[in-house]
Parts: sequence; C-alpha cells; structure tokens
Amino acid sequence: MAQQYTITLLPGDGIGPEIMAVARRVLEVVGQKFDLGFTFQEALVGGAAIDQKGEPLPAETLETCKNSDAVLLAAIGGPQYDTLPRHLRPETGLLALRAGLGLFANLRPAKILPQLLDASSLKREVVEGVDIMVVRELTGGIYFGQPRGVFETETGEKRGVNTMAYTVSEIDRIGRVAFETAQKRSKRLCSVDKANVLEVSQLWRDRITALAVEYPDVELTHMYVDNAAMQLLRWPKQFDTIVTGNLFGDILSDAAAMLTGSIGMLPSASLGSAAPGLYEPVHGSAPDIAGQDKANPLAQVLSAAMMLRYGLSQPTAADCIEQAVLQVLDRNFRTADIMSDNMTLLGCHAMGDAIVDAIRN
Ligand code: IPM
Ligand code: MG
Repeated sequence: MAQQYTITLLPGDGIGPEIMAVARRVLEVVGQKFDLGFTFQEALVGGAAIDQKGEPLPAETLETCKNSDAVLLAAIGGPQYDTLPRHLRPETGLLALRAGLGLFANLRPAKILPQLLDASSLKREVVEGVDIMVVRELTGGIYFGQPRGVFETETGEKRGVNTMAYTVSEIDRIGRVAFETAQKRSKRLCSVDKANVLEVSQLWRDRITALAVEYPDVELTHMYVDNAAMQLLRWPKQFDTIVTGNLFGDILSDAAAMLTGSIGMLPSASLGSAAPGLYEPVHGSAPDIAGQDKANPLAQVLSAAMMLRYGLSQPTAADCIEQAVLQVLDRNFRTADIMSDNMTLLGCHAMGDAIVDAIRN
C-alpha cells in the first residue's frame, strides 16, 4: 500500500498561488511515480488570511499545520498590507507560524548550478562551485526578544525598542543542528556574530566554541557579521556551513542566495525538534509580477523536494525532483528572472509542464 502523507499547503500572497500550483502538480506526479499518496489541505496565511479572516495567522491554520506531516508555504506579503498595525501584518503571521510550530532551525542552501553561472552578477571564477548552507536561528534573537515596542521617554519623546537576546539552550540547540549539518557536508562550520560589540554575541561565540568539543571532526571558525557580508561577496567558496542568529541569518541568506544568480531558485527548510517542518522558497511574494504567469516556480518546487528529503524521508523522490529541475535547465528553459541569450523563455505554468515532463520520462 502506498505511503500516505498529509501536507498542508499555504499559498499565501502575490505569486504564491501560481508557484504553489506548480509544486502541487509536481508532488502529485512524483507521488504516482514512487507510490506516495498525498492528501493536500490548504489553509490561509499572510495577506490572504487578513483579507478573509481579519488576521494573518488564524488559529485554524496553525491547527491544520500541526495536524499534518509537513507544511509547504509559498510566500506572504504585499504593499497593501504595509501600513497595517504590526500585529495585523502578513510577516507577523509568518513569524507566529514559525514560533507556533517551534521551528528554530532554518536551513537555507545556496548552491550555484552550472547552468546558471552567467545569471550571477558576480564573476564566473568567484561563484563557480559555490555550495553554502546557511543555518539561521529562527525563533529567537531580535525578532522575538522582549521588551519591544515604541515607548515614550520621560521627556515625551518616542523611542523604538527591540531586544536581541539568546539563552544558552537556544544557542546550543541551533549550534547542534549546525554542527550536524556540517558533518554531513564538508565539515567546515563558520559561526557568524558581532561579539566585538554585543554581549549576546559573546555568549553565542562562547557556547558555539564549547559545543565544538563534541564535534572534533568539524573545523569551526568565527567571523564578525560585517566581515562575513564582505567575504560572501569577495570569495564565497571559503564557506561551507554558516550558523548565525535570526537577524544576521535573514540578511546573509539573501546575500548568499543572490550569489547563485536568482533568489528565485532557492528553497529552505525550517525544522523544530518534531514534525511538521515548514518548507518555503527564500524569495518573497513578488507582488509586482503576481498573476501574470511570469514567476519562477523552481524554488517552490525545490522546497517540495526539501520537504520530501528532510520531512518525509523520501530521498529518492527528492532526488527525482531535483534532477528534473536540472534537466529543464539543461534543455535551456528559463523563466524571466534567469533568462539569458539563446535560452527559451517560459512562463510559470509552462515551466511546471516542463518539470512534470522531465519527471515522467
Ligand atoms: C525571510 C523573510 C521573513 C524574515 C519576513 C517575511 C518576516 O524575510 O523568511 O527571510 O525576516 O524572516
Ligand atoms: Mg528574509
């Protein structure tokens, strides 16, 4: 009998529904091929939830997610929500979802594909062979620290406050994920912080250093975040696995993503200590091209592959999807964001067709 999985789909906003439709189709086809049964349940998050339910993460969405084997998210946000109070913004829904599912570890691979070398804004010799995994802490740090808010000082002046805070246990659990990730890769881990200025970073550095004793096969280095931003652009091949806090990881993972030419290519996995994990593209909702069939669905499709690999332990099916993506690129099919000379321009739906074809054959 076929292995059965319940998958929550969160299409969200902007290009989300278009790219999610492609990923769903790809999962169905791969399911047929490998005898995997998927039951999909859709739920609302972000702007879509604000429009229909008045809040960015309705309780029933979190419940639906909890009652599934894995959650596949597309993207959230749009300019029409940017003026809403913070608790009603799409981003707040995503943060609440991560916190609600306990997803403290965010894995963001940035691997350059040979087919897309020329799509990078950096020189070929700089990016050729880049293969980085950013392990970003996802439920702590300045995004969640208290106190936060805009308060009045004694003189009546407004003062905005956020707090960057990490406990030892928060650092240790992300540190362990990072060391274990590095062990499965080329065993080099760079921990990024700002320990020359921030106490929270000094504690981070001390704990990561202490943990290293348990992973003698991993070579650990430390780097300040400003230097890390520069080194990522100067010589990215020096990095294998990077571990860092929530804010630094948010920024550095976008930079690492862009090394590969398009942020439209990169998946991510957010994991907690138990299932379900959340799988989503690194890119956003691209409201400027929403509904025009121009979006690149590959990061979404690759997120589905990550879901199969990390969430459902179906590496063969994951490999099949990843191979199909490489094949469509080898056939010179491109969406607009990765288009270059002599390539065939496809829309989002047609790119989906091409992937489905590659999986079937
Ligand atoms: C990301 C995004 C989110 C974040 C936003 C949308 C809240 O930028 O996943 O990187 O900052 O974590
Ligand atoms: Mg980000």
